[in-house]
Amino acid sequence: MADLTTLYAGLKLRNPIIVSSSGLVDSVAKIKKIEAAGAGAVVLKSLFEEQINHEAGRMMTDNAYPEAADYILNYSRSNSVDQYLDLIENVKKEVNIPIFASINCVSDTDWIGFASKMQAAGADGLELNIFILPVDGNSSTVYEEQYFKLVEKVRNTIDIPLIIKMSSYFTNILYMVNKLYAIGANAVVMFNRLYEPDINIEEMKMTSAEVFSSPSDLRQTLRWISLVSDRQKDIQLSASTGVHDYKAIVKLLLAGASTVQVCSVLYKNGVDHLTQMIGDLETWMDSRNMESVDMMRGKMSYRNHKDPGIWERSQFMRYFSNRD
Ligand SMILES: Cc1cc2nc3c(=O)[nH]c(=O)nc-3n(C[C@H](O)[C@H](O)[C@H](O)COP(=O)(O)O)c2cc1C
Repeated sequence: MADLTTLYAGLKLRNPIIVSSSGLVDSVAKIKKIEAAGAGAVVLKSLFEEQINHEAGRMMTDNAYPEAADYILNYSRSNSVDQYLDLIENVKKEVNIPIFASINCVSDTDWIGFASKMQAAGADGLELNIFILPVDGNSSTVYEEQYFKLVEKVRNTIDIPLIIKMSSYFTNILYMVNKLYAIGANAVVMFNRLYEPDINIEEMKMTSAEVFSSPSDLRQTLRWISLVSDRQKDIQLSASTGVHDYKAIVKLLLAGASTVQVCSVLYKNGVDHLTQMIGDLETWMDSRNMESVDMMRGKMSYRNHKDPGIWERSQFMRYFSNRD
């Protein structure tokens, strides 16, 4: 029987499959079910930094969007910061798998002190989902510095593992990962799935595009896990976005991920689907004589390509020049 254990952000997980931050992971009852279905760990639903600042009496008073302030106010009423700490405490009493708290943030303001409360409540680690949308034409370095300042401050606030969930919209992802590691991140999640707008052309208004991913979204994740795992071996990588079956999990472990996160597929098929995915992963490993996740990890990363940029370019030329 294959050994599925894996090391992630310094913690030993019974298998590499993590249920990612979402409404699937916002109560003790749901998390107990997820543990029973076999997950290696869970990331709790995120608190927004605005909620934390709001409860600390520092709501954005100059908010240009009153409806955003209303939303935060209403959301805060039913998802208070204290409730979040209670959730961490209660879930730690009832389940054995690691529990990562999660904060969705943009700035290095007062909310950061709250991270130490999450640590005190018993979180095994903290995942920061940093969501900054540049809209003012500044150089990318301005935004990158914003990330680094924020991460440095949180790192100086807590001792538990710190994980950064990043988006794929960076000029140089490897630079970002290297730097995040240098300033104390223990792991990186690649990638977050950002809010995507759509336009309803009948009603002439902005709407939200589909929130769930599709299997084809895996390609972006796969490329960057393959590339970064080969060039930055000190930091552990968690692959997220587009993982809909065990084959995607196999690919991402071969590409070099330490863990793989799932969300949309569980919304579609229910959390019991985890059991099937883990069983299928095990069956594949046994059929290939892959004795452990460690043995698989990185076997198919970009390590066989001296310059992945040139290799990808040559694949592109070969692929498209033969088409009419
Ligand atoms: C309904 C829903 C709620 C989500 N809520 C959060 C959240 O609170 N915090 C977060 O970091 N990501 C959140 N996400 C993003 C997921 O954790 C995940 O990164 C994204 O869906 C991509 O993974 P997938 O392809 O497996 O769905 C949410 C996703 C969905 C579909």
